[in-house]
Amino acid sequence: MLYRELGASGLQVSALGLGTWAIGGTWWGGAEEADSIAAIRGGIEQGITLIDTAPVYGYGLSEEVVGKAIKGYDRSKLVLATKVGLAWHVSEGQYFFELAGERVYRNLKPATIRYEIEQSLRRLGTDYIDLYQTHWQDNTTPIAETMATLLQLQQEGKIRAIGVSNCTPAQMDEYRAVGPLASNQPLYNMLDRGIEAELLPYCLARKIGVLTYSSLALGLLTGTMDPNRVFAEDDQRHGNPRFTPEAIAQTNALLDRFAPLREKYGLTQAQLSIAWTISRPGVTVALVGVRTAQQATELAPGGNIALTPEDLAAMDAILAE
Ligand SMILES: NC(=O)c1ccc[n+]([C@@H]2O[C@H](COP(=O)([O-])OP(=O)(O)OC[C@H]3O[C@@H](n4cnc5c(N)ncnc54)[C@H](OP(=O)(O)O)[C@@H]3O)[C@@H](O)[C@H]2O)c1
Repeated sequence: MLYRELGASGLQVSALGLGTWAIGGTWWGGAEEADSIAAIRGGIEQGITLIDTAPVYGYGLSEEVVGKAIKGYDRSKLVLATKVGLAWHVSEGQYFFELAGERVYRNLKPATIRYEIEQSLRRLGTDYIDLYQTHWQDNTTPIAETMATLLQLQQEGKIRAIGVSNCTPAQMDEYRAVGPLASNQPLYNMLDRGIEAELLPYCLARKIGVLTYSSLALGLLTGTMDPNRVFAEDDQRHGNPRFTPEAIAQTNALLDRFAPLREKYGLTQAQLSIAWTISRPGVTVALVGVRTAQQATELAPGGNIALTPEDLAAMDAILAE
């Protein structure tokens, strides 16, 4: 496993990070707790140190399961990353969505942050969070107020580093006018490359870490997605145009063209997709969602390989077609 510093934060993190969105169940057609715990432990056994979660994943469930899974491990060797600001205990802020009977607001007000951190610490069974990230930006709260509260939490020892997610360079400028940011967490994978134009160069130039999310495009980039797979109605991939039989077959055909590189590096397609992500300039960590120990174990070698610039360019040429 490769290890890197997250921006200029001093936090050392594995280049492959465990994503625990699916473990919360909501958006993903449910999850079995025993599988989820085994998935997290399987990842840790493979050298993954960074675990990313959020209160809204299963409305607390994902954080609780992470808390159970890490019991017995040396806490100081793990980097727990969670988020703040998608609140369902309030009805103020910027209304975002309704799911499973809860109305969720983007809310990064000081009182909400103060409330949420205590819930997260309790659910995770820890007295500090390594990386605390604002989940989605809230246009009803001045960023300076949000950042001032986060800095207070840092001074109180409740968080080690401050990160953002789904945050534009202009918004990051506002945060950074108040205090340092360790990282941003945007969507990025071989099929979703919107951040390459502005956000990645911005972060690279300012030594801000980048944790990519949906690094496997919700499982599509494993190359093993069955075109005839039937998704449960409460799985976000149900009805998603990228997951029709034709679209899955088309993506699999694209990935087939990477066979010579898979052979050269001795990687499966899922591992190559991770290696591609962590080899991009500016990317610190590829977050990948795991549901079983087998998935975590399979993916781990992808976090140990840097592709050459020539091979990255060859893959880009194929992707550009
Ligand atoms: N900040 C944000 O707004 C935001 C948004 C999205 C995600 N995230 C974070 O980023 C993490 C990763 O993204 P993601 O979970 O959305 O998607 P992802 O990593 O692109 O895909 C995860 C899915 O791929 C499938 N998979 C994983 N390993 C596999 C393997 N070895 N073989 C075959 N299939 C495999 C699993 O689904 P199946 O087994 O069901 O196919 C898994 O749930 C999340 O868990 C979360 O921590 C953050």
